[in-house]
Amino acid sequence: MDRLLLQWVALMISITTLCQACHPADFKGLTSFKSAISQDTSGRLAKWVGRNCCGWDGISCHNATGRVKEINLPGFISTGDIPFQSEMMGYLSSSITLLDAVEIIDLGGLIGLGGTIPKFIGLRLRNLRKLYLYGNKLRGPLPDSIGKLMKLEELAVHDNRLSGSLPASLGSLMSLHSLHLDGNRFLGSIPDSITNLKKLVRMDLHSNSFVGRIPERIGELQMLNELDLSNNFLSGKVPISLTKLTALSVLYLDNNNLEGPLLFPPALAFLRLNGNRLSGTIPPSFGELVSLKRASLSNNKLEGTLPSSLGRLSALSELYLDHNRFSGELPESFGQLSQLILLDLSHNFIKGPLPELSSLQNIQTIDLSFNRLSLTAIPQWLAKLASLSKMGLAGCGIHGEIPEFLRRTPSPIQELDLSLNYLTGKIPEWIGSLTALYSLKLSQNSLVYEIPDSITKLQDLRVLDLHSNKLTGNIRQIFKIEHGFPDDSLTYIDLSDNNFSGEFDQVDVGQQPAIQFLNLSHNNLKGRLPISIGGLKSIRSLDLSSNNLGFDLPEAMVNANQLETLKLQRNHFTGKIPKGFLKLRKLKELDLSNNLLVGEIPAGKPLSDFPRSAYMGNRGLCGKPLNPCKL
Ligand SMILES: *[C@@H]1O[C@H](CO)[C@@H](O)[C@H](O)[C@H]1NC(C)=O
Ligand SMILES: *[C@@H]1O[C@H](CO)[C@@H](O)[C@H](O)[C@H]1NC(C)=O
Ligand SMILES: *[C@@H]1O[C@H](CO)[C@@H](O)[C@H](O)[C@H]1NC(C)=O
Repeated sequence: MDRLLLQWVALMISITTLCQACHPADFKGLTSFKSAISQDTSGRLAKWVGRNCCGWDGISCHNATGRVKEINLPGFISTGDIPFQSEMMGYLSSSITLLDAVEIIDLGGLIGLGGTIPKFIGLRLRNLRKLYLYGNKLRGPLPDSIGKLMKLEELAVHDNRLSGSLPASLGSLMSLHSLHLDGNRFLGSIPDSITNLKKLVRMDLHSNSFVGRIPERIGELQMLNELDLSNNFLSGKVPISLTKLTALSVLYLDNNNLEGPLLFPPALAFLRLNGNRLSGTIPPSFGELVSLKRASLSNNKLEGTLPSSLGRLSALSELYLDHNRFSGELPESFGQLSQLILLDLSHNFIKGPLPELSSLQNIQTIDLSFNRLSLTAIPQWLAKLASLSKMGLAGCGIHGEIPEFLRRTPSPIQELDLSLNYLTGKIPEWIGSLTALYSLKLSQNSLVYEIPDSITKLQDLRVLDLHSNKLTGNIRQIFKIEHGFPDDSLTYIDLSDNNFSGEFDQVDVGQQPAIQFLNLSHNNLKGRLPISIGGLKSIRSLDLSSNNLGFDLPEAMVNANQLETLKLQRNHFTGKIPKGFLKLRKLKELDLSNNLLVGEIPAGKPLSDFPRSAYMGNRGLCGKPLNPCKL
């Protein structure tokens, strides 16, 4: 009797669950998907039990048909109180294509999801509208069948390891309005068929290895609002049809090999063409881009005078024109760019005199370095600009002492570059009052005397470049413990080619563990390398060449194992090269020549890989790459 009752109950339960069970194809597709995932840090898949897949986390079904309509399992979960980045390890099962009624698949940003995009995805998932697989570890090609997804509106597979060339069938996705293929390893040319995607609003193919030309008929994408083809190997001229993209507001073609004249559509707000080989002048019509907010034309071969129509770009906040061949004088109309925050004109052939641009009350960064400005003095109006905090005036022909008005600028100076001028006199004591300074470059001038002690008051200083002056005194103050720089501060120090002196062993370099670049070459330093040199845990480049340093090289040096460049030539180092140098695995450049080193060069990489010249001119070194040691 009991047994019969139990059987009844069991039967009733299975009938109930059967009624709630989802479609067998959906069930199979989802359980296969789950079984290919070895770990899910969100815990969502662990809750996929029973047969009612419509109730599972991240799954929703059509009310009428009971078929799975959406898979929403993005890695970044923003629902609860605290947003949370989860991860799935494993691979994307091709059984996902069994869910043939699915409209949305969001498996974006799961980080560890590998595998490939199922080959037959387009033949099976005919209802798919949104496919998000970005931010994973997917490999292999974008399958040809993708072109059959006639309802697909959004395709986001960016930031994976996808490869191969794009299928021409992409051009059949008539409903597509957003295409994100960026950050993969795609190659070959961009198929011309892509210009059939008449509904396309966003197209992002940046950071791949595309070659060839931009499709000539790109101008047919009349809905296009954002186009990013940057960081590829595209070449040839920018197609003229591009100027017909009247809805385009974002155009990023930077870092390719594009050539020919500058072309631009009329509604641009954000433009990046830097890092190409564009030539010719900026036409006056550029001034008609009334919506333009940010523009970079850096690193091209553009030339001629800057048109005064540029002053009409009333929305412009950032303008990069550096590393071109612009010449002539800067038009006075630049003073009308009242929204301008950043202006980089460095590395051109712009002549003086400079118009007074004191009306640029929003400008924070101005770089006029390396032109033909022959300023003779820092223009006083620069120091009156209410928001200016970063000034680049290297190679501007400035004479005289560092002017005191820099001490009282309306906005605290954060970056000051006066390298390669004709500055004379001392580094002023008041430099210590520029407490917001994080980059100070005064190299290649004729500055004399000691670095003022007040410099250690610059607690935010990251970059200090004073090379090639006539500075003297002990460098100890840079590394002193009490009242010195905070230990997480300086990352870049170049004091080379001066006349600094002192015993190097008394310098506690280990006090500055954040240093990545240190150049003290061509000075007058004596003594031995301190043990604390091993405390430079972040250092990548160390140059102490052409000093009077001596004694044995400390074994502790092996602890500076991030070193890529080590230059100790032209000193008086003695003894053997420590065996520990073999542990400097990242070393790419080494020079120990012209010292008094002896004995066998420790055998093995990386030491054996350097040219003989790295070891020449010592007292008695032998072994690879030099001649074998005599027994
Ligand atoms: C499906 O059903 C749920 C609850 O029964 C309801 O809230 C929802 O609006 C329905 N959706 C559609 C598309 O009918
Ligand atoms: C260090 O400075 C000297 C002289 O200024 C320069 O020639 C050398 O290239 C610099 N070393 C490194 C590693 O940059
Ligand atoms: C370098 O400094 C020393 C004093 O430390 C001085 O005697 C010497 O003349 C200076 N050399 C040059 C080239 O300025």
